[in-house]
Amino acid sequence: MNLCKEFHNEIKGLNAEGILKWALTRFGERVVLGTSFGAEDQVLTDLWARTGAQGHIFTLDTGRFFQETYDVMDATMKRYELRMEVYTPGAGDLARLVESNGPNLFYESMEKRKACCAVRKTIPLRRALSGRDAWVTGLRREQSITRTQTQAIEWDELHGIYKISPLHDWTEEQVWTYIRTRNVPYNALHDKGFPSIGCAPCTRAVASGEDARAGRWWWEQPEHRECGLHSGRPRQS
Ligand code: ADX
Ligand code: SF4
Repeated sequence: MNLCKEFHNEIKGLNAEGILKWALTRFGERVVLGTSFGAEDQVLTDLWARTGAQGHIFTLDTGRFFQETYDVMDATMKRYELRMEVYTPGAGDLARLVESNGPNLFYESMEKRKACCAVRKTIPLRRALSGRDAWVTGLRREQSITRTQTQAIEWDELHGIYKISPLHDWTEEQVWTYIRTRNVPYNALHDKGFPSIGCAPCTRAVASGEDARAGRWWWEQPEHRECGLHSGRPRQS
């Protein structure tokens, strides 16, 4: 039996909190939670803190977050006694990117948008995950057509570690019920029509009834609206 199947059996029937506890027991210091301080990440941070295991959290600070995101980051760091690792783009890479393409390159072509996501997100992600065995994400199946197959645990081929998504089967309503019940800090933009929040220049509000991620890279086709953090063809086994 391969490990992923064995892990699937071990977590079968566990709720999100149970999956996090399992991950911390199974991987110890070698599992890490990635957060961009969106609603799902805030639920996971609260649950992570409640395990009492002092698990690591990391964020990829792209330098282009909304001020509201820095506000909720600040509130989160003050409320929870967790180790927060902040990964920033490489200074040289960033300087070269902007010098060659200007600060607003993402609107010019998908190639340039992906180059920006590489420097600001996916290359720092590799540093964040180096030496880890697993990472926890706030992915939910409902979020978009690119995420309908999300599993509780998958093999992340791109990074060569496990990817754990304890909220994979949660509805948006469950997320918000949790946030309200536990009075969890959340990004103020969620109350202004932003269900999914990334970098400021690449995120806008959505109209009611629109897809949760319709405001992310809204000028591109829906099937391309991933920045590369989650496009590494995850496998279930
Ligand atoms: S993204 O790929 O389009 O940016 P999204 O914003 O939906 O992803 O977030 C999905 C999950 O990816 C989050 O729940 C979080 O676990 C992880 N993630 C996204 N952005 C970051 C970030 N800047 N730093 C750390 N983790 C992130
Ligand atoms: Fe750059 Fe936009 Fe990607 Fe952020 S989301 S890294 S600003 S292209």
